[in-house]
Amino acid sequence: MTLLSEAPVLVTGACGLVGRATVTALRARGLPVVATDLGSRANREHAASLPADRDLAWRWADLTSPEQARGLVKASAPRAVVHLAAVIPPACYASPGVAEAVNVGGTRNLTEAVVDHAPQARFVHASSVAVHGSRNPHRGLGLLGPDTPLAPSDLYGRHKAAAEEVVRAIATPWVVLRLGGVMTTEVSGGNDADTSYFSASLPDDGRIQTVDVRDVARAFAAAVDADVVGEILMIGGDESHRLVQRDIATGYTAALGMDGAVPPGLPGDPDDDTTWFATDWMDTTRAQEALGFQQVSWPRLLEEVREQVGWKRYLLRLVGPPMHALAVRRSPYAGTGRTHADPWGAVERRWPAATS
Ligand SMILES: NC(=O)c1ccc[n+]([C@@H]2O[C@H](COP(=O)([O-])OP(=O)(O)OC[C@H]3O[C@@H](n4cnc5c(N)ncnc54)[C@H](O)[C@@H]3O)[C@@H](O)[C@H]2O)c1
Repeated sequence: MTLLSEAPVLVTGACGLVGRATVTALRARGLPVVATDLGSRANREHAASLPADRDLAWRWADLTSPEQARGLVKASAPRAVVHLAAVIPPACYASPGVAEAVNVGGTRNLTEAVVDHAPQARFVHASSVAVHGSRNPHRGLGLLGPDTPLAPSDLYGRHKAAAEEVVRAIATPWVVLRLGGVMTTEVSGGNDADTSYFSASLPDDGRIQTVDVRDVARAFAAAVDADVVGEILMIGGDESHRLVQRDIATGYTAALGMDGAVPPGLPGDPDDDTTWFATDWMDTTRAQEALGFQQVSWPRLLEEVREQVGWKRYLLRLVGPPMHALAVRRSPYAGTGRTHADPWGAVERRWPAATS
């Protein structure tokens, strides 16, 4: 391993969506980083593709192994740990046992290693608004905040709530960042079938506060030394990110030049509190005051997508109609006769183990 110039920040899940951006944000602050993730071929290739940097070191570890978590912390001697590694929806529904081993067990292994071998290090933990469970916007529930009760509706929310409890019980310094819907301007080849199915199951009119991944990364990079020990902070974008689920599909597809590619989904049932998705609008005032991370508005994010796609939007326009037809056929509600969405029922139909 490279000899770093001073005690580093250890970042888990460093090859993931938030992890890649967080490593960049920490290095932009001049902080040395030990980045870690599973040692898969794709992850090693990602690490190898980055420009040479003597203050960025990579270590491969599986956090479900207490020994590997311990070895990682001992070898990196971190000043802070940013814990992002997790198995998130919809992958967690397909492999609930693995997901729990990572989301809860991995967090326990890592916190124990930190308490034993780096007790001075601050533990900055990635949680999710999923801990608050289904949110029916017709109930006047107000904004999500750190004191909103934990009431998870699915296994992912339960894992994230259990992991928060593990973190909040450690005797060493901690801070929890509860994230809303993380968005990226990076244009990829499109969603896989599971992600498309899951997205299509969500109530069109459910509230969600999105946030650009670079703003999330700025929040994590600031949280390693800001005056926030012992706090739970709500990480969402500025007020332009207070959307309903349908806005995401229409915004992205329009920015890509593929208007109409995603057919409308179903609305949520105003009379059934259990069939809404686990997202809502958030009060980010304290988080923004302490971490100063909100820079990318929702319109700016879409503008960047549009700029990136450039002339290719004329080609993508051709993909819109067949994509629409496929999405109609593959809708989680096709042939069910339902008039309102039921995302948890849709999860159970596709991944029976997720609710057993
Ligand atoms: N993406 C979102 O919208 C969102 C929303 C709320 C909260 N979060 C939380 O933010 C964090 C980062 O999410 P993300 O979107 O970057 O997820 P991601 O799936 O892109 O990245 C997670 C990373 O964890 C790694 N990982 C999985 N199992 C591991 C193991 N056994 N040992 C070591 N590493 C392992 C994966 O290889 C992956 O690189 C997670 O804790 C997630 O729960 C994400």
